[in-house]
Parts: sequence; C-alpha cells; structure tokens
Amino acid sequence: MNRALVDLEQRVGEALVNDDRSRIDVLGYGEISTVLRLTVDGRPYACKRLPPFPESAIGPYREACTAYLVALGERGVRTASSTIEIVQTGGDPVIYCVQPIENVLLVDRLRTAGSDEVAALAHRLVSVIAEAIDDRLGLDAQISNWALDPDGGFVYIDVTTPLIRDDAGDEMLDTDLFLASLPAFLRPVIRRFLLGEILGHYYDARAALLDLIGNLKKERLAGAITVFREAANRVVDPPITNKEIDRYYRNDAVMWEVLQQLRRTDRWWQRSVRRRSYPVLLPGKVDR
Ligand SMILES: Nc1ncnc2c1ncn2[C@@H]1O[C@H](COP(=O)(O)OP(=O)(O)OP(=O)(O)O)[C@@H](O)[C@H]1O
Ligand SMILES: [Mg+2]
Repeated sequence: MNRALVDLEQRVGEALVNDDRSRIDVLGYGEISTVLRLTVDGRPYACKRLPPFPESAIGPYREACTAYLVALGERGVRTASSTIEIVQTGGDPVIYCVQPIENVLLVDRLRTAGSDEVAALAHRLVSVIAEAIDDRLGLDAQISNWALDPDGGFVYIDVTTPLIRDDAGDEMLDTDLFLASLPAFLRPVIRRFLLGEILGHYYDARAALLDLIGNLKKERLAGAITVFREAANRVVDPPITNKEIDRYYRNDAVMWEVLQQLRRTDRWWQRSVRRRSYPVLLPGKVDR
C-alpha cells in the first residue's frame, strides 16, 4: 500500500505544479482533505490526503483519529475501516487516511429510493446521529458522509476530522490543521472569532441535523427535505423550520463560495508573486 501511495503522492505533486489532473482521480474536495481514488492489487481505495503539516503533529493526529474511531464505535456509529499512512516522497511527509471504497453511498441510495424507503432511512439516520452526538463527541452529519453496509446499516466515512474533546473539554485535534487549507492571512481571524462556533456545531445534535437538512439541496435531494425535517423534529427542540433551513442553506453556500474564492486568490498569489507551488488541490466551480 505504501509504495502505491508514494506513487500517488508523486502524481498529486505533479498535478499541483502543472494543474493537470489527468493522472489522478479525485473523488472529493473537502475542507481538510482531498479524496483520491486508487486501485491497489485490484481493490479500489479512497485515499484522503491531508494538508501538509509539521512532522511533530503526526503522532497527536493519529492518536486523535484512533480515539475518535473508538468513541464513535462505542456510541453505535459504524465507521469505514480506516488506516493512517505516512507517505514520504523527499519533502515533508504527507498523511493519507486510506479506506476501502464503499459500494453504496447514502446519497446515491436516496436518489433512487421510493418515498417509504427514504422516510425509513431518514428516521434511522436521525436516531444514529442524535444518539451519538454530545458535547464531547461530534459528527459532520452531512448526507455525503454516509454509506450503507450490505445489511443496511449506516457507515460513517468522513473520519479525517476527529471531532473529539478531552475531559477538560478541549479539542484533541490540533485545530491549526483545520485552518491549514486557508490563506495564511485569514487564519488568525478565523481562529480567534469563528473556529469555536464552527466546531461547536458538530457537537450539537440540532445544529448537525440542520446542517444535514440544509445541505440536501446541494446534493440534489431537495425532495427529501420535508421527510428529514419531520424525522429530526422528533428529537430536537425547538423544531427546525423551513425558513431556518432556507436561511442556513443560503448562508452556507455564500460562505463556501467566498472561502473558495479566497483560496483561489491565495493560490494565484503564491504561484505568481511568491513563485512557489500551492500545496492543496482546489475544486473547480461547484454547482449549487
Ligand atoms: N470510503 C469511501 N468510499 C467511497 N467514496 C468515498 C469514501 N470516502 C470518501 N468518499 C467520497 O469522497 C467524498 C468526500 O469524502 P469525505 O467526506 O471523507 O471528505 P470531505 O468531506 O471531502 O473532507 P473533509 O472532512 O476534509 O471536509 C465523499 O462524500 C464520497 O463521495
Ligand atoms: Mg465529507
């Protein structure tokens, strides 16, 4: 596996320099990781490339991930089997989180399911989420972060951001990692004024469910909003309203667009003015 990842990282390095993505297969562009598809010994894997961070941060990151996977399991959340690999290609080491490709993603199932099945899935997923989250254990509950096992159980795949707090209530994750993919000039501002609030949403079942429902439209699943709202309102108080969902979606879409634009500007600045390569692959335009 590690040899294949070294080769993948070399191809990512080339793509970063010449902006030609024909030799890599990108499955998703996240806030923290870039997800690449890789076949090793005939088996397909999702390889999540983390932004470059100092070597001293690798151990603590691995610990936070392990603690997160264990805690989720204890709360009844199945997670995709995940291994952390350190990839060395000459420069700084790069971390990859590697998972076998899940065959059935929840977004795909919801797009083709009939209304009874959608309702059943919505109710079951809301229960899993509401039972897992508390102020020590968070989840990015968005619909794109779940797959289905052959027995119909939910599998959580987005484990690269360990949302777990220690006994003192502090994040186990070095939150600078969360900021690493932002332009440097933005980081202090976000760290000081926004980070607590952004992370806080993941540790609050109502906020996580609002985020899930608010983003169904982005996944072209607007038809499922009502049934998810009804399912969520069985467990949250005060109830989530349609107005709140619309407002949430608009704000989230604007924030995401602004962030992407800032990143593109930063990339231009790094390349054209500072004459150095930009370390993270950015998505093209996202349809909303
Ligand atoms: N194990 C997997 N099997 C199949 N597809 C996957 C797998 N892992 C990720 N993907 C695809 O890649 C997308 C992004 O993956 P993931 O949710 O892990 O990261 P992200 O949300 O992009 O990143 P971040 O947490 O850094 O914001 C998923 O929504 C899914 O479409
Ligand atoms: Mg995700």
